[in-house]
Amino acid sequence: MSDQENRIPEHPPLPDDIPQSSRRRRMLMTPQMVVIGGLLAFFTVVFSVVIMPTATYKPAISDNWLPLSDAAVNGRAIYLSNGCVYCHSGFSRPQDVFAGSSALYARASQPGDYRGVSQSPNTLGSVRTGPDMSNQGGMHPDGWHRSHYWNPRSTTPMSIMQRFNFLSQDDLDLLISFTQSQGGKLAALRYAATRTGNYLMRLNTGKATLDEPDAPVADLVAQERASGVLRPQGKPMDKAPSGMSWMGVWHMNSFSRSYWLTDNPLELNEGNLMRGKATYLQRCSGCHGAKGDGKGPGAERLRVKPFDFTKPTLADDSGTSSGMMYHRLLTAGPGTAMENFGTRLSVNEIWSVVMFLRTIPNGGLEETLPTVDMYERWNPPESQLRYMQENPIEEMYSDLPQTDDPFEQAARWIAPGMAQSDMVYVGGKLAITLERLAGVIRSEYGRIVKTAYDDAKKRGEDLPPLAQIMDTKGMIFYGP
Ligand code: HEC
Ligand code: HEC
Repeated sequence: MSDQENRIPEHPPLPDDIPQSSRRRRMLMTPQMVVIGGLLAFFTVVFSVVIMPTATYKPAISDNWLPLSDAAVNGRAIYLSNGCVYCHSGFSRPQDVFAGSSALYARASQPGDYRGVSQSPNTLGSVRTGPDMSNQGGMHPDGWHRSHYWNPRSTTPMSIMQRFNFLSQDDLDLLISFTQSQGGKLAALRYAATRTGNYLMRLNTGKATLDEPDAPVADLVAQERASGVLRPQGKPMDKAPSGMSWMGVWHMNSFSRSYWLTDNPLELNEGNLMRGKATYLQRCSGCHGAKGDGKGPGAERLRVKPFDFTKPTLADDSGTSSGMMYHRLLTAGPGTAMENFGTRLSVNEIWSVVMFLRTIPNGGLEETLPTVDMYERWNPPESQLRYMQENPIEEMYSDLPQTDDPFEQAARWIAPGMAQSDMVYVGGKLAITLERLAGVIRSEYGRIVKTAYDDAKKRGEDLPPLAQIMDTKGMIFYGP
């Protein structure tokens, strides 16, 4: 077969009677065709995906919606300009709520959560290098954020978040206001509880006064100035009827009763002590310090200071049992920087670090290997035992009715050891019952919501009536 025969035949020439204008080459892509067609397709997509939804989609505000206060709006600008959104998302998905038991994902975000000019453009983000921010408000006290933004390693020793210590104090405060506003009404409730818990911890140790500006208890104190229930001259170390100091009594009530006398279930051995020490150095040293004295780099900016573990008898005359320490790690300190490690450490890790803490007074941190003989066994003092006998567990549980009031739920988070009929003089001064505590949180919540509402009104935002926003029906308290 010759080469000639093997060739594919050329296209036959077009007959001459087909006009030049309708020849095939007219249908080929010309530069004009590419430009005009491309633009047409582009604008069709922009119109249907961007312009139409922006113009027509106006979701009603959600039942968790709150406007931002002026401080939060300014903090938002700092959040956007510092690229926080590149590492932090701002929405929870249904699967997050399903998977996460913690308050971080209390509910799935709804379009109506982002309503309002002050929330536009949104901070939804797309990456979760760090935790999601949609429900961050009230998770930590302001002091924790101050330390964390100053240097994230001071509160979270292994953090990869960069330092924001180049921001001015004022800018940091604004950024904190924005952080504390994330999560709408649920966050405002949690923030009110956090502020109240933090204040009461300080009042209890004599570090706060009743008349402190912006004290959450201002309304209660004003009401009770004349009633005689207030003991303005009282001191934290004044004795309660059980013989324990009032300071010790409030300390006890910040732990659930079922942990009061619980001992460490792990075997006391060097392996467990060493595991505990590793956890301590990785997670706790930033606040409690490399020496265990509570003077870590994160402590400086906190209002309630981290606990000092170097003293042979822990705390005041009451002391802290291993069970109470476990409870503190599992569920956080109510309103303090002491975080909830229940979602990050295993049960064994928590018990082993609690075991290790008891070697610190005898050199557990100084020596490379903590040994069994360094372990300081704890026995409750007489007065504390009497207090526990007078306040049995059964009494509390039979005494506490179910409640769907979010402020009562928050009060029980602050004082998980308290029964309905108990009364404690916090700091020896201020009479606190669960009911009063719920009242304090309610007034603090009202103040936070009102400030945000008034600010948004002044900015001329389109707002529903205040009563609709204040309404707390169906709300549930999710503690940090
Ligand atoms: C490089 C990524 C990155 C950037 C940028 C970043 N973060 Fe973070 N952020 C993290 C990581 C990782 C964590 C978790 C560890 C920790 O707590 O530091 C975190 C934690 C946090 C937390 C604590 C959350 C919690 O519940 O414990 C807050 C609040 C926070 N970041 C706010 C911010 C703000 C505000 C900015 C901007 C000023 C910012 N972050 C910038 C990565 C980042
Ligand atoms: C961000 C700072 C911070 C970090 C990190 C931190 N703590 Fe704390 N911790 C505190 C503060 C503040 C207190 C005092 C207030 C309180 O009891 O809530 C405290 C209190 C405690 C208490 C209660 C002591 C008592 O008798 O009342 C224990 C136990 C404790 N921390 C253990 C730990 C352990 C173990 C770790 C590490 C896994 C840790 N903490 C990490 C700040 C921190």
